Amino acid sequence: MSRQQTFDVLVIGSGAAGLRLALELAGNGPVAVLAKGRLTDGSSFRAQGGISAVLAPDDSFESHVQDTLNAGAGLCHPEVVRFTVEQGPAAIHWLIDLGVNFTRDAEAGGEAGYHLTREGGHSHRRVIHAADATGQVLETALIEAARRHPNISLFERHIAIDLITRSKLGLPGQRCLGAYVLDRDAGRVEALAARCVVLATGGASKVYLYTSNPDTATGDGIAMAWRAGCRVANLEFNQFHPTCLYHPKAKSFLITEAVRGEGGRLLLPDGEPFMQRFDPRGELAPRDIVARAIDHEMKRLGVDHVLLDISHRPADFVREHFPTVYQRCLAYGIDITREPIPVVPAAHYTCGGVMTDIHGRTDIPGLYAIGETTHTGLHGANRLASNSLLECLVFGQAAGRHIRQELPRLEAPPELPPWDESRVTDSDEEVVVSHNWDELRRFMWDYVGIVRTDKRLERALRRVELLQHEIHEYYSNFRVTNDLIELRNLVQVAELIIRSAQSRKESRGLHYTLDYPQTDSGQARDTVLVPDRRQAASRLAWAGNQQEDARPTA
Ligand code: FAD
Ligand code: SIN
Repeated sequence: MSRQQTFDVLVIGSGAAGLRLALELAGNGPVAVLAKGRLTDGSSFRAQGGISAVLAPDDSFESHVQDTLNAGAGLCHPEVVRFTVEQGPAAIHWLIDLGVNFTRDAEAGGEAGYHLTREGGHSHRRVIHAADATGQVLETALIEAARRHPNISLFERHIAIDLITRSKLGLPGQRCLGAYVLDRDAGRVEALAARCVVLATGGASKVYLYTSNPDTATGDGIAMAWRAGCRVANLEFNQFHPTCLYHPKAKSFLITEAVRGEGGRLLLPDGEPFMQRFDPRGELAPRDIVARAIDHEMKRLGVDHVLLDISHRPADFVREHFPTVYQRCLAYGIDITREPIPVVPAAHYTCGGVMTDIHGRTDIPGLYAIGETTHTGLHGANRLASNSLLECLVFGQAAGRHIRQELPRLEAPPELPPWDESRVTDSDEEVVVSHNWDELRRFMWDYVGIVRTDKRLERALRRVELLQHEIHEYYSNFRVTNDLIELRNLVQVAELIIRSAQSRKESRGLHYTLDYPQTDSGQARDTVLVPDRRQAASRLAWAGNQQEDARPTA
């Protein structure tokens, strides 16, 4: 990269959301897509279960809307839910036209003979999938299409550090002009300029010790948007997937909910089924209920996992529908056609995020956000299974359309000041980063996890403030690295999660606290955190720096 490259649109993130948007816009002019690792390193590539959409003849938009609202526990924005659900079938057809090869089943009655599976909280079979490797098949098709397009430039191993806005440069008015980006291979920070910037950076589940997410899920978009002055919402709603593989050698491997959708049963270590004791929908109750039930039973019995059993289904069926899960478990010595799988809940999805409207616009003109990094109003207090990829596709297209209309009116960005490294040196003790990283993720798991209390949240806040202070100091003095950038973002998002959780004095959806175990209808509102914009502006008022002088307050 030269010192300043300018694009029409800079998309930060190469998951389903970022690539869907890039493909929508590429006909118009140059689009850059950044990935901080490889293009395939995000959550999208790992998605298993599928994409929810109304495709079966006996299904309806009303039913999908209602299931989404039920899971969301009173906090979904109904107009956003309806918009997303109604766009679902077209989003799927766009993928089929792109060449995505979904699993077929002529007998299943799904549209054009596609197999539709079931997942928790869905009253119909409506999850279209490519066996249990939906994300891999989807991302491969999107990446191939993006690679073929002459207007799309793909930058792997380029991590965005911060957004550049007019206020950051001390210019009047507010607008996003680009981002400072570390080229990890060259070890150099570049200013990338664009008429529009899109955050498509995924979620923040790496803030927890145990997660189904890849290493990229460090909440970078949420932290960058917050530092630049955007509001964030509903960050207390962290979804824990009930069933991740429990094995000393398995890092973050999900056992798809579709296993339960196709008859998988949850059992205690002695073989006793237990879900009916918690919810009449049993294994297919929404995720918050199943994860909490498992957590409760594990604590009650003092065991470190429960079991998920699909071995009663024919072996051929299991191998055909769940080839990824089958192979991975076999590699760890577990034959799922013959024996149950040890599972535990793990952090899976960030329901809150950067606040956007239905076009993906944030509070800063020229800055859009799409995908898991956002709060659009779709998920409320608990996301319905397989609604996430749907949201990525629908909002990727919607934001792309809106940007296309806006582009002719937008001026080219000015020359941006280079990144200033004059006051920093190479790090003297990398161990500070790895230690703080471990500490943060451990106390977030212990104090801000599936079951919370006021006292645990207070403890977590004290610790996060201490860590923020240390990390801030470290960031001010040393050259940025990928790990440091991520840690700085993670600790910021952790603080926002804790503050959001502290402000909700009830239990609702994914936020469960022993101090307020009931849902309070008086609190059926979003938790919106507003950054101190004056601070955000002055903090960023000098160019290309690494030295923040103040932390925004919630
Ligand atoms: P991601 O796909 O996570 O992509 C984020 C991108 O941003 C990456 O390219 C990353 O490199 C880049 N990035 C991040 N920060 C920076 C930065 N600072 N600079 C540059 N680049 C950056 N949902 C469903 O609907 N159905 C499923 O079946 C399903 N299964 C899942 C299974 C697993 C194991 C996991 C983890 C999630 C699953 N989900 C599923 C959730 C869903 O996959 C994600 O919510 C969705 O893929 C998020 O897409 P995204 O485009 O927003 O982000
Ligand atoms: C899964 O396959 O269980 C994940 C589905 C989702 O997160 O929506």
